Amino acid sequence: MVQIMRKQALNPTVTLMEVYAPLVAKKAQPGQFIILRVDVEGERIPLTVADYDRQKGLVTIIFQIVGATTEKLNRLKTGDYIADFAGPLGQPSDCSAKKVAIVGGGVGCAIALPVAKRFHELGAAVHGITGFRSRDLVILENEFRAVAGTFVMMTDDGSYGTKGLVTDALKKLIDAGEKYDEVIAIGPLVMMKFVCAATKPYNIKTTVSMNPIMIDGTGMCGCCRLTVGGKTRFACVDGPDFDGHQVDFAEALSRGSIYKPFESKAHRGVCNLLKQEAK
Ligand SMILES: Cc1cc2nc3c(=O)[nH]c(=O)nc-3n(C[C@H](O)[C@H](O)[C@H](O)COP(=O)(O)OP(=O)(O)OC[C@H]3O[C@@H](n4cnc5c(N)ncnc54)[C@H](O)[C@@H]3O)c2cc1C
Ligand code: FES
Repeated sequence: MVQIMRKQALNPTVTLMEVYAPLVAKKAQPGQFIILRVDVEGERIPLTVADYDRQKGLVTIIFQIVGATTEKLNRLKTGDYIADFAGPLGQPSDCSAKKVAIVGGGVGCAIALPVAKRFHELGAAVHGITGFRSRDLVILENEFRAVAGTFVMMTDDGSYGTKGLVTDALKKLIDAGEKYDEVIAIGPLVMMKFVCAATKPYNIKTTVSMNPIMIDGTGMCGCCRLTVGGKTRFACVDGPDFDGHQVDFAEALSRGSIYKPFESKAHRGVCNLLKQEAK
């Protein structure tokens, strides 16, 4: 069991929690994740380690409320306990490049931020591009600005920053002569797919953080399998970072939606229970 030490709503659908998990905090590296169960009957869900404080034993998670488990997690308050919190899992991100463009989409910015921070600490030139649907969904802007020499905010509807997609901003920077050793894209699958399509003609190494459905997180169930460069890889132990130009996105998109009917059923169930509790 781990205790929630702080809870903060970053926007109407994204929550930050700081939990006391000293063993995870001791070993976590940017790019790694944990798997939690809210209670002993709950399902296991993976969430990225958004930050850690080794001295205080704190681990930060930032999650978007998208379905039954993230809703249940969001109902916990400061001082409450999360039943299981296993990690760190997965491979740390490779932060050896000297000049990087880090592209974050939506809640993907929470996964991108620790990577951007690490590059910055190592003295790399970091350019940050973040994209959101609209102004009210923007998260972690100041944190990104603090580590990025160049920072571009994009919104789909133009309500904040520049109107357009993250790929528009990335292409503009590349066409203006910026030479990146690596582009790192973290966000919805479709966004990562189009970032890879944008960098391919320029032959820029492009890394994506894959987020397939995971169960055990230790390479045993096969649930998180992807095809990368024609080979089967498990995101939980081989990733979650992969060479984006080698990822079979069509397969990943199709596998990612397999459980949609079950997820919406679980989601409806939670709402009904809540209604009964409220009576
Ligand atoms: C390595 C990794 C790191 C992640 N880090 C973050 C993060 O830092 N913040 C964040 O908001 N989200 C993150 N996710 C996604 C997060 O795990 C899902 O949003 C969460 O599991 C949704 O569960 P739910 O029951 O609330 O929603 P559901 O309604 O069950 O599902 C909504 C969507 O979430 C995804 N999902 C559901 N169950 C799982 C599962 N067991 N494993 C993976 N994806 C699932 C599917 O795409 C699904 O369509 C990460 C996923 C992976 C694989
Ligand atoms: S989650 Fe089971 S093999 Fe990766």
